[in-house]
Amino acid sequence: MFSAQQHATLKQIHHYVQNKLEHDKSGHDMAHIERVVKLALTIQQTETNTDPFIVAVSAYVHDIIDDKVTENTAQERAELITLLQTLSFNQTQQQAIFAIIDNMSYRKNLNGKKMLSPEGEIVQDADRLDAIGAIGIGRAFYYGGNKHHLMHDPAIPPRSSLTEQDYRYPNTVINHFYEKLLRLKDQLNTETAKKIADKRHQILVNFVQQFEQEWTDTAY
Ligand code: ADP
Ligand code: NI
Repeated sequence: MFSAQQHATLKQIHHYVQNKLEHDKSGHDMAHIERVVKLALTIQQTETNTDPFIVAVSAYVHDIIDDKVTENTAQERAELITLLQTLSFNQTQQQAIFAIIDNMSYRKNLNGKKMLSPEGEIVQDADRLDAIGAIGIGRAFYYGGNKHHLMHDPAIPPRSSLTEQDYRYPNTVINHFYEKLLRLKDQLNTETAKKIADKRHQILVNFVQQFEQEWTDTAY
């Protein structure tokens, strides 16, 4: 799938991202990145006329310039441009990568769906698959704990529609399932991702149902 040179480049990018995310405790660690790369390359195989190299690079760097993992997004962006230039990415490739990582996040699509390239749709699907299923449940509670959110409060109803502005507003973890995670299945782009999502979505549905059952059963 990759030339020897592309392999070497991906290895350097892996190393760069690993350094950046070493201290992440919000569920955006290197293991998340590696799962997204792997899922993205699996999806790519069924998407004709897409470039696996752009898919892999974008998957590797998709979180490092985002405000959820860095306080200095401008500096991270500048550093990433320097890295890509050092690794001999041409202007077209750099633009393709930034068009993906600037527009793929759930938050950035709340105020209207952003156009993505076919490669972008693949990486977005891979990132979203990692937000659902058993790992998705684990990540949501891990994130909520990291941000000091409550697990659940039946007195706080989930918001029926979210905007980019209120997405980061503190919330309960169970509400995050209703506001985002349970909706992801219907927002996937590719058929392969939709197939992978079926089982993972069902795991979320069963989990929330059982969670709420136990909560009511033991409430007084
Ligand atoms: P995106 O980059 O698509 O906007 P986020 O970075 O906000 O997505 O979320 C990535 C993962 O972090 C989510 O899939 C979820 O597991 C977790 N997460 C984000 N916001 C919350 C929240 N308010 N409560 C619980 N988990 C969250
Ligand atoms: Ni991600």
